[in-house]
Amino acid sequence: DWTPEHFIQSTIAAIREKVGESGHAICALSGGVDSSVAAVLVHRAIGDRLTCVFVNNGVLRRNEFFKVQDTMRDKLGLNLVAVDASGRFLAKLAGVTDPETKRKIIGNEFISVFDDEAARILRESAESTEDGEGANVAWLVQGTLYPDVIESSSVKGPSQTIKSHHNVGGLPENMKLKLIEPLRDLFKDEVRRIGRDLQMPEEILQRQPFPGPGLAVRILGEVTPERVSLLQDADDIVVTEIKTAGLYQQIWQSFAVLLPVRSVGVAGDQRTYGYTCAIRAVHSEDGMTADWVPLPYEVLKTISSRISNEVHGITRVVYDITSKPPGTIEWE
Ligand code: XMP
Repeated sequence: DWTPEHFIQSTIAAIREKVGESGHAICALSGGVDSSVAAVLVHRAIGDRLTCVFVNNGVLRRNEFFKVQDTMRDKLGLNLVAVDASGRFLAKLAGVTDPETKRKIIGNEFISVFDDEAARILRESAESTEDGEGANVAWLVQGTLYPDVIESSSVKGPSQTIKSHHNVGGLPENMKLKLIEPLRDLFKDEVRRIGRDLQMPEEILQRQPFPGPGLAVRILGEVTPERVSLLQDADDIVVTEIKTAGLYQQIWQSFAVLLPVRSVGVAGDQRTYGYTCAIRAVHSEDGMTADWVPLPYEVLKTISSRISNEVHGITRVVYDITSKPPGTIEWE
């Protein structure tokens, strides 16, 4: 009989057996459910011989870089390396408007940052292993789920970026990277149950999906630091108000999109000229199809008035009432 306790016990034992007494593992954390639960399981098995890498790609949500560190390192006790590479990412994104090009840039830059960190961590851990046992086998932890395995999922997490790229460059010749995928027989709801049993915060377990390319695919056209900041403010208001209304967990994704379309507004007796913000909220089972959510007018009203009053640079708020198909969930 499948129970979370049984799964956790047998998985931890299997990971210990695999990695041995002195092997080391690395993992890319996104702050999402899958990579977090996978990391916590492996941490239970091998402790600080697991190093997690969390990268600030410059297009995370407001305070996310700090929040994830707080949860993962301070609350869950993971051995976490946080790399603020936002400058590097934003420099590469300057002047780029094509969505797929943005995705490629972010994916490649992520791999390059992760590679550098992983190679350094694994070299250091191999040097510190005196008996040499396990020193030349390094492990890469991934939060692959069953639907990813059968390739029916459309949720393209950052883990998939790495999936196509198992071998970290910059590793010594004799150091091979092998995969640990503790969740590969599970569905999302089972992963949440495991996470609950591991006493992970609900905040992580109930987190709505967030795309790997982050806010870059929610800023139409060019991504600039100014636009990122405006969208972070607007997005933060949307998430806060949806949570306050008690709707966050019932909704698949709810977020703000920044449109580089300017319109005239008034602030006091001044005419202003600012960007447009679209609010998007959808119900979905798996991201393949989605229905727009009829958010209560009161919630929309609060979101709209907060964004137009608090986010200087946005003068107009609109609501996206498109389902998928024909629309996609993201705007890019
Ligand atoms: P679309 O916009 O295609 O999105 O309807 C379906 C689901 O996939 C997420 N998504 C992404 N996730 N990298 C990701 O990690 C991406 O490039 C990407 N594009 C879309 C989207 O948030 C939704 O959950």
